[in-house]
Amino acid sequence: MALLTITAFVIFASLLYFWVKHKYAHWEKKGIKSPPVVPFIGHFGRIITFKESIDGFTKRIYEDFPNEPAVGTYRCLTPAVVLRDPELIKQVMIKDFPVFEDRGIRALDDPINDNLFVAEGETWRILRQKLTPIFTSGKLRNMMPLIDKCVGEYLEYVDGLVARGVEHEVRDLSSKYTLEVIGSCAFGVDMDVFNEKENIFRDVGNRIFSPSLLSRFAQFADFLIPGTLNFLHKTKLYNINERTQTFFLNLVNKIVGEREGRPKSRKDFMDLMIELKEQKFVEKREHDKVAKLEMSPELMAAQAVVFYAAGFETSSATMSFLIHELAFHQDIQQRLHDEICAVTEKHGGKLTYDALSEMTYLEMCFDETLRKYPIVGTLIRKALVDYQFPGTKLKIDKGTVVFLPVGGLQSDSQYFENPDVFDPERFSPENKGKIPQCVYMPFGEGPRHCIGMYS
Ligand code: HEM
Repeated sequence: MALLTITAFVIFASLLYFWVKHKYAHWEKKGIKSPPVVPFIGHFGRIITFKESIDGFTKRIYEDFPNEPAVGTYRCLTPAVVLRDPELIKQVMIKDFPVFEDRGIRALDDPINDNLFVAEGETWRILRQKLTPIFTSGKLRNMMPLIDKCVGEYLEYVDGLVARGVEHEVRDLSSKYTLEVIGSCAFGVDMDVFNEKENIFRDVGNRIFSPSLLSRFAQFADFLIPGTLNFLHKTKLYNINERTQTFFLNLVNKIVGEREGRPKSRKDFMDLMIELKEQKFVEKREHDKVAKLEMSPELMAAQAVVFYAAGFETSSATMSFLIHELAFHQDIQQRLHDEICAVTEKHGGKLTYDALSEMTYLEMCFDETLRKYPIVGTLIRKALVDYQFPGTKLKIDKGTVVFLPVGGLQSDSQYFENPDVFDPERFSPENKGKIPQCVYMPFGEGPRHCIGMYS
């Protein structure tokens, strides 16, 4: 009996060994370099143990393989490729976009995952077309008085802190301001964040951006065995998104109720959602084909989540990084202050859309902030078919996840001299055009770039 058990164990262990070896030979067979792996964990050991972020990982891979156009990695047992060469990146983001239009992060069959960021295929295409009008210059122009009001409240709050000599974390100040703006411009809600009370929106934000240990564990399990999250969800054992979804569903229903199901003249994000809901189905016409999507409360809530999640942290973090750099560079701060004063004065002391558009140096400072501190340091796409990169030996299989290492590219001295130095001049009207395409991508690139990008 003992001999039988040992034999069975040896056979099982040998089979497992050869299976894992075969899995990890994927990139070698394709002639693509890859760092040494840890069995079953692949290259994600530091990520799983929270020692490194995904952005830190792709930046490290980018820096460790300076001569490679692409580096093969393993997300546990699944192959994923990090592209280093901007020409290959251009192929993915722009030239062959239809092959790479999905991000491949839709782990759950859940209404909350039908949001613009995570949605795939036809659903994404319809949503993108229907939601793009939120960011036309006309709409933004209409929002300026709402933003101006938030600026007024922010300044009053900061003046109060200065008068009382209270120290305050800039990161927190930026969060408060951004929350007030998003609440007002997207949901028509006065967040009243400056009164220091507890804020439910901020709590939800913390939940989205600082997931619990249990949800991190569930995500890790899904990396190791793809489909785990969906299984837990379908069997009702654990739903990673439940509380967030309920919060936004209630919020959307409340706002729709308050507006009596009709768009108000506010023309904010919720008005657009209500307009689309009135049509019941949203459609996208392409040539002779018509695709339809029902605008249910769940689908509206899903968009609300992503507008909040994608807009809040990104904007407030960028603002605080800029303020941080300005504190270290008084000359830049002075020049920026002079520009803001001069342009505002020219526009009758008002912060208007046109005034903002004339603040060239402010834009240069934001561009450089996003270069040095890209909030999204890794972009992600998934190959929908087997794909051969033209003119190269690189061929990837259908379903392969492609990582684009924004953080690595934007701190590469090959493209940005003295990358650790904060220098807005890199983005002056004369210099900006010299940056090669697909090297500077803080808002992503191609048809799936950030919908909130100011251009
Ligand atoms: C400094 C501020 C921001 C930064 C740095 C930023 C960055 C990004 C990046 C890198 C992506 C991925 C693009 C890609 O994969 O090619 C993205 C997508 C997205 N962003 Fe932003 N973002 C910012 C502000 C906003 C704001 C204010 C909103 C909305 C209120 C927003 C909404 C979105 C949405 C909905 C997507 C998904 C678009 C799609 O998949 O079609 N972002 N953003």
